[in-house]
Amino acid sequence: MCGIVGCILKDKKAAPILLDCVRRLEYRGYDSVGIATSSSSINIKKDSGKIDEVHEKLQLDELPGKVGIAHVRWATHGLPTRENAHPHTDCDNKIVLVHNGIIENYQELKDQLQEEGHHFRSDTDTEVIAHLVEKQMDGGNDFEEAVRGATQKIKGSYALAIIHADYPDTIIGVRKESPLILGVGDDDYFLASDVPAILEETNRVIYLDDDDIFIIRSDGIIIKDVNGHIKEKNIDVINWGPEMAQKGGYDHFMIKEIHEQPEAVRNTLSELDEIEKTVKNFSKINRLCFVACGTSYHAAMVGKYLFEELVGLPVDLALASEFEFSAGALRPDTLVIFITQSGETADTMKAMELAKGKSETLAIVNVMGSRATREADHVIYTRAGPEIGVAATKTYVSQLTCIYLLAACMARDNAILDELGKVPDYMTTVLEQEDFIKEISPQYRDAQDFFFIGRGFSYPTAMEGALKLKEITYIHGEGYAAGELKHGPLALISEGVPVVAVVPPGKSHDRTMGNVKEVKARGARVIGLGSQMDTNLRSESHDMMGLDDAISELISPLVYVVPLQLLAYYISVERGINPDQPKNLAKCVTVV
Ligand code: G6P
Repeated sequence: MCGIVGCILKDKKAAPILLDCVRRLEYRGYDSVGIATSSSSINIKKDSGKIDEVHEKLQLDELPGKVGIAHVRWATHGLPTRENAHPHTDCDNKIVLVHNGIIENYQELKDQLQEEGHHFRSDTDTEVIAHLVEKQMDGGNDFEEAVRGATQKIKGSYALAIIHADYPDTIIGVRKESPLILGVGDDDYFLASDVPAILEETNRVIYLDDDDIFIIRSDGIIIKDVNGHIKEKNIDVINWGPEMAQKGGYDHFMIKEIHEQPEAVRNTLSELDEIEKTVKNFSKINRLCFVACGTSYHAAMVGKYLFEELVGLPVDLALASEFEFSAGALRPDTLVIFITQSGETADTMKAMELAKGKSETLAIVNVMGSRATREADHVIYTRAGPEIGVAATKTYVSQLTCIYLLAACMARDNAILDELGKVPDYMTTVLEQEDFIKEISPQYRDAQDFFFIGRGFSYPTAMEGALKLKEITYIHGEGYAAGELKHGPLALISEGVPVVAVVPPGKSHDRTMGNVKEVKARGARVIGLGSQMDTNLRSESHDMMGLDDAISELISPLVYVVPLQLLAYYISVERGINPDQPKNLAKCVTVV
């Protein structure tokens, strides 16, 4: 999804630093890139394409000036072309801006501005903002007043950074419902869509609230509220080192993050005290509802099984994008739990708005200072550290860890805590089998379809295995509750179709084994995922990934997902795909 950065530097040229910063935003998913700097005049370079391609063509770092803004675009309004790439400008090319978000009323504003004689060059919603600022300034307002006036006319979500030819020492910006943070160096100032973009430059950040307007000059930052009153804001120190946002010797972020999972779980387990404190607020809760998107939704699915079994509370489950169609039954004794690694997913945030005031809201979030952390009644942090790969891995197991801790606290069940403590070691033994998974992956490189089956706690794992495969290999993958096979998908099983069967020892084992036999009888190639002692599964499997026999079914989602992540990763690499940046996908989806 789009990413923006900006900086005012004391001694250095802005463009090379901005180029480094946007490279660190690449992971969000994008199709165009652009940079503008301000010196004695405004200078802009932009085009569609990957950063390296555009840089080779235009030498993006060769722009003068110590003040600048930059953007990676993920097309929403208008094709990925040079004209539609940011930065966008007003009629006179004096007002130059980058934007992340969506301007919902852009068409009516554009029609009106065009009638008034404004000349548009792109199909984007963003360009209207440049012309609105121009119109405000033509009416006699100064730069800051004009930006405030323009934002009062637009509806939607925006993280904006704007420079002006007549104010060469200034960047003005606004945040509303789109991620944006400010960075404070010794004598340098930054803005960015997220922390990893600027972590190399500074670890001191300011989190903005919705409608905050900021003015950065070479002598400092001023933040004002919507009425123009100055706000005092804390500077937070980020305790991640820049190396956490680097590949550290691995070929891709995704494989590095898969390997960081034991540590992510360990760090998240240390949140137990915080979670115990939070749970004290929930004594009147009689019902739960989990809401999330994508991988986080699969964590929510595990939550449903877990809370029903361990805590005995009824649990509803909703995809965030569907919530507005099914949120009618919210009651004050319901706790709605939003799971979101980014804390910014637009569908999840929209669902939170609907739930607020009707029910208690709890957000399980990885990114500090993100929107969900400010808007939910209660917050629990996953301690995964920065996740750069688009396909979620370590944030998923950290979300699961939080959910298990929450259930253990609500059920006052210490036995589960002992089991959770062993998860990092179980994961490490799975990671030791990486070479085996790498060896078997070439034979699945050309598969057309893949099925993943499991029952009970293994059903979400099957869904997550299929999602990982789809996301990063572009192979069609379906996750199914194994019992549903006979109601449709069995018709799709033919000679050689890979079926991954998630069959930990436990209540679901024998039934799922029945399904394994069904698919094998129809020619499927079975990849078994179960206890290494499970001779039955081994004899039915063409390839078998054996895990520690002591991993209980209840805890299995935390560990059994790891071989599936590795399988998707190695098939992706076999197919020559960059698993960190799958096509058409974004890390943080800020549009509904
Ligand atoms: C995008 C990401 C997924 C993520 C989903 C939900 O689709 O590519 O990895 O699971 O958004 O994101 P959230 O930040 O709300 O967990």
